[in-house]
Amino acid sequence: MLQSKIKNPVIAPLRILILALFSVAAMITFTQCTAPQSGDTDSGATESGTYATDDADRTYLSMNEIMEMSYPFELAPLPYAPDALEPAIDAQTMNIHHGKHHQGYINKLNAALEPHEELHGMTLAELNAGWNTMPEEIQAAVRNHGGGTLNHYIFWNVMSAEPAVPSEALMAMIDRDFGSFDEMAQEFAGAASTVFGSGWAWLVLDEEGKLHIRATANQDNPLADGLTPIMGVDVWEHAYYLNYQNRRGDYLGAFLGLIDWATVEANYSAVSGM
Ligand SMILES: [Fe+2]
Repeated sequence: MLQSKIKNPVIAPLRILILALFSVAAMITFTQCTAPQSGDTDSGATESGTYATDDADRTYLSMNEIMEMSYPFELAPLPYAPDALEPAIDAQTMNIHHGKHHQGYINKLNAALEPHEELHGMTLAELNAGWNTMPEEIQAAVRNHGGGTLNHYIFWNVMSAEPAVPSEALMAMIDRDFGSFDEMAQEFAGAASTVFGSGWAWLVLDEEGKLHIRATANQDNPLADGLTPIMGVDVWEHAYYLNYQNRRGDYLGAFLGLIDWATVEANYSAVSGM
């Protein structure tokens, strides 16, 4: 059931209507939200990777592949061309975000782990879940740069220039845990719009398989709280400031239109089996 785009001609119009309502509701919510944020200070680094150019041939890293990465970490190419998500996300922002910011987190995580061979076999998920068990001198680096490495991979993972709407199976899980798709969207909107300073908003899975919305500060990942992210949005200023300046709500509304719900459902399936 996973990864499949919606093809059923009977239910497709209903889903399109739901997605449209979701987008409108989200835009109303987001356009009323927050003031400019400060402290968007993470580092630059090396040059961008190469890019896939055809979103239809998307063969990006799966959630399992992302979670199971280990030292030395490398920057994987984006799953789409840097201008593929325009006008929602402009190419310059995408290039800097991926090639400088994401690369910077990866470089600093590798630098922190390099002298600790006993940690080289740990997965990216394990590092994020257990940063507070690391040697004290690298806890902050693993927390911040391990989070920055994982979080951005999830962010690239869930967006698409040709996003699929939720399947019946995913809609049923959302209805079960939030009451409706719109209620989930409103909760996500609220979490993302009220992050103070820099951080993330997430759709997460708990140990019982129930979905929740959570927000985290800076580059913290929900894995540290025993929750597994399957979708997330970066609300650091570096994610949107060139195009949206202080209009975080407009950026969030645009992001919602890029979410590939087939990938989110695949992520759910992947992490529920972890
Ligand atoms: Fe970012």
